[in-house]
Amino acid sequence: MADKVYRASTTAPVNIAVVKYWGKRDATLNLPTNSSLSVTLAQSDLRTLTTASCSASYPASEGDWLLLNGEPSDVSGARVQACFRELRARRAALEAADPSLPKLSTMPLHIVSENNFPTAAGLASSAAGFAALVRAIADLYELPASPSELSLIARQGSGSACRSLFGGYVAWRMGGKADGSDSMADQVAEASHWPEMRALVLVASAAKKGVSSTSGMQQTVATSSLFQERIERVVPQNMAVMEKAIQDRDFAPFAEVTMRDSNSFHATCADTYPPIFYMNDVSRAAIRAVEQINAAAGRTVAAYTFDAGPNAVIYYLEKDTELVVGTFYHVLGGEIDGWKNDAVKGLKPTTSLDGGVASLLKGGVSRVIMTGVGPGPQKADEHLVAEDGTPVRR
Ligand code: DP6
Repeated sequence: MADKVYRASTTAPVNIAVVKYWGKRDATLNLPTNSSLSVTLAQSDLRTLTTASCSASYPASEGDWLLLNGEPSDVSGARVQACFRELRARRAALEAADPSLPKLSTMPLHIVSENNFPTAAGLASSAAGFAALVRAIADLYELPASPSELSLIARQGSGSACRSLFGGYVAWRMGGKADGSDSMADQVAEASHWPEMRALVLVASAAKKGVSSTSGMQQTVATSSLFQERIERVVPQNMAVMEKAIQDRDFAPFAEVTMRDSNSFHATCADTYPPIFYMNDVSRAAIRAVEQINAAAGRTVAAYTFDAGPNAVIYYLEKDTELVVGTFYHVLGGEIDGWKNDAVKGLKPTTSLDGGVASLLKGGVSRVIMTGVGPGPQKADEHLVAEDGTPVRR
């Protein structure tokens, strides 16, 4: 009889930071120069599903492998290797303490992973991908590790991934130790603490970004003097105000810090030598649109933020859907992909955007994603590896 195939499957979410991680103090251990804070987005719209499997019958000659969206993906890189090594070491410790346990740590890993959103969504999927990879292998190995402990491992895959081990509102504490053992994520609040938080993503380009975050942040650390001001003063202050805003469910300071922190991060990119530009004319039009929506409302109802690319993420509260989404829906038109019909049906165009802003958005936004705050990784019953060890074709 063939050896047993052990399997575990999980989903993991995307997160979008409202206080940005930008800068490494140790590139090998992936330790950041500052703390950061993000909102975890709902998995019905954006998630990675990953099955981790291992078996004594998997040929040793093939080694470990990963199939990502149906394509073989390289696992020889230092980041994936660090995750495998850390997880195997923890499993090996359990096996050493209890010799009756099957020796899963010695078996090759076969991993199959799929995103539920098209690559054309233009969203970096590495956070959800590494969070799902680490959670699935930890479940396969039955590790008694908390999400914070697993965030230490996911961090080594991709910094922002450590925040995708939790739902809701999540901080990555930069820590101070040289070995990185205190640089991990913790939950500031559950999604249910402030469930009305919504996010509208305006996809301004689905193209792979010009300068990767990994290399961009290294260049900023090496050349920008403004960056020192950011990590020493701006971010610590933004973290404190943001945590209180979340505890108090107070949208105005949440929004102001979100926008200011995005501006601060992109200012350090402009101060990098040579400069790095992630935003384009369409991104800047989205900023103007948010300002015009807030001015027309007479209060802050929307907040923009941008990662290492031109796509805008706009946070707002459910009660202000008409003011925010209504405006964008009428400017962009119903033909582009991504509108949720039940949510946009009957929305009135509440703010008329100035002509230049409206035409830039209309010409440059190719699709939208309507989503909101959501929970952390979930155990999945659906396996992407069959009982006999073959990848499931879908
Ligand atoms: C702008 O997590 O992609 O999205 O650790 O090198 O993999 P690596 O970087 P990554 O950087 C994300 C940067 C950001 C801000 C954020 O998510 O906090």
